[in-house]
Amino acid sequence: MQAHKANGNFTEDVTVVMRRYTPSDNKEVLRIFQEGMMEMVADTAFRGLLYHPESQLLYAAITVHCLWVAEIGGSVVGLVAAHCLQDGSIELLRMSVDRRFRRQRVGVALGQQVLKFARLCASSSTTTSVVLGTTAYMAAPHRLYLALGFRCVGITEGFSTPGIERSLLERAFYRVRHHHYKVDLK
Ligand SMILES: CC(C)(COP(=O)(O)OP(=O)(O)OC[C@H]1O[C@@H](n2cnc3c(N)ncnc32)[C@H](O)[C@@H]1OP(=O)(O)O)[C@@H](O)C(=O)NCCC(=O)NCCS
Repeated sequence: MQAHKANGNFTEDVTVVMRRYTPSDNKEVLRIFQEGMMEMVADTAFRGLLYHPESQLLYAAITVHCLWVAEIGGSVVGLVAAHCLQDGSIELLRMSVDRRFRRQRVGVALGQQVLKFARLCASSSTTTSVVLGTTAYMAAPHRLYLALGFRCVGITEGFSTPGIERSLLERAFYRVRHHHYKVDLK
């Protein structure tokens, strides 16, 4: 993908190359994923993941059917994954772009890769939509998803991890808002 970025008084063209993840990408994928995740997590025990690389790898890879990386100049600068759900939709997840390469349409290229994959699945299966959920409060992911054609189909207040009970105090002070986005393919 040829990305075009307006930067101050000049413009520069950046070529973003998408390819399938390979195990040799582990180090860079973990770093970018970890940095992106930590930006979303204000201050919770989840930050402990920072010190447990084996858990990070498990979290990055768990329930993922396809994982792609984006490259600029031969370096891995972002990742995204897709997971096929039983209800016929495909979930976009693990979107993260290296801080040093933001606002160069890498996020768009990653999102388009998942949409391309989903359209391919839709042509030969019952796949009907791409969905995603985010607990991000920053504007960046929300604007990115809207730019990719997603629409917000619901907001869950007090989202919690399935199977995990929280105390009254935690429920009162640890508040999370979960936005649900969707693109219909058919
Ligand atoms: C969200 C994220 C993936 C965006 O990656 P990116 O490569 O910088 O995004 P792009 O350059 O493709 O931006 C596409 C559009 O998204 C919006 N956008 C991206 N970053 C933005 C920001 N900081 N503020 C406002 N809008 C932003 C803009 O509309 C942008 O288009 P424009 O540059 O023409 O204005 C990146 O900021 C990131 O990795 N954040 C941390 C992890 C995270 O939040 N992941 C999402 C989890 S749900």
